[in-house]
Amino acid sequence: MSNLKFGFNFDILNLLIRMTDITKKIIIAIDGYSSSGKSTIAKEIAKILNYKYIDSGAMYRAVTLFAIRNNFINKKHIVDEDSLKKVLDKIKINFRYNSNKKQQETYLNSENVEDEIREMEVSNNVSFISRLAFVRKELVLLQQKLGLEKGIVMDGRDIGTVVFPNAELKIFMTANPEVRAQRRYLELKEKNIDVSFDEILENVKKRDYIDETRDESPLKRAVDAVELDNSNMNRQEQLDWIVDLVNKKIN
Ligand code: DC
Repeated sequence: MSNLKFGFNFDILNLLIRMTDITKKIIIAIDGYSSSGKSTIAKEIAKILNYKYIDSGAMYRAVTLFAIRNNFINKKHIVDEDSLKKVLDKIKINFRYNSNKKQQETYLNSENVEDEIREMEVSNNVSFISRLAFVRKELVLLQQKLGLEKGIVMDGRDIGTVVFPNAELKIFMTANPEVRAQRRYLELKEKNIDVSFDEILENVKKRDYIDETRDESPLKRAVDAVELDNSNMNRQEQLDWIVDLVNKKIN
């Protein structure tokens, strides 16, 4: 069964390589709940198509880390908005590929912060930064600039609705909260970050609530997005599903 499956995927990939007009680049917007597996899939699709991959959540995390380090956010998650606003143009975020780790990493003012932005302190505070209109405005502009030449896969919460409302392909990913918390738990354990499953589940649910109910660009499915509920799908099944969609769009 699994051999058959592999043969099928291989055919799709071959077809994609043979039939795709590589000069026709599109924008692929992947939105969805936290830990729904957006970035894993987005990265793989970008690799197959030789597109740029941009993790927009990492940008909100980097601004959050900056705010924490500068004491612009307190223990009660109250943000000193005036101070943050004043220095926002001093925050430079970019991505560089680490060929040893074979992954793209986030840089905040030339410092590699890839690991630090994934820690719980940032996860627990990021929603309070990402709901600020002035932060979103800056980051959305930066994201749109990165997509000017198309040939990009970007994941986040508002990519299909706000950042690239004209994206050729929009995917909305979801999975139930327990499945998502379990994935995050394993990810953090692998990185030796000490945290309990319950703590993560609570964080996932809290972030869903804030993401969906905030005034600024709340998480919602774009009307023209296709939904992918991957609660019971493995990575390969999701990849097949999306490659098929991309193939239809490009050809
Ligand atoms: O995808 P993530 O969990 O790394 O995102 C971190 C936070 O940033 C998440 O709580 C929601 C927010 N975010 C957002 O508001 N808009 C985006 N385009 C991406 C992320």
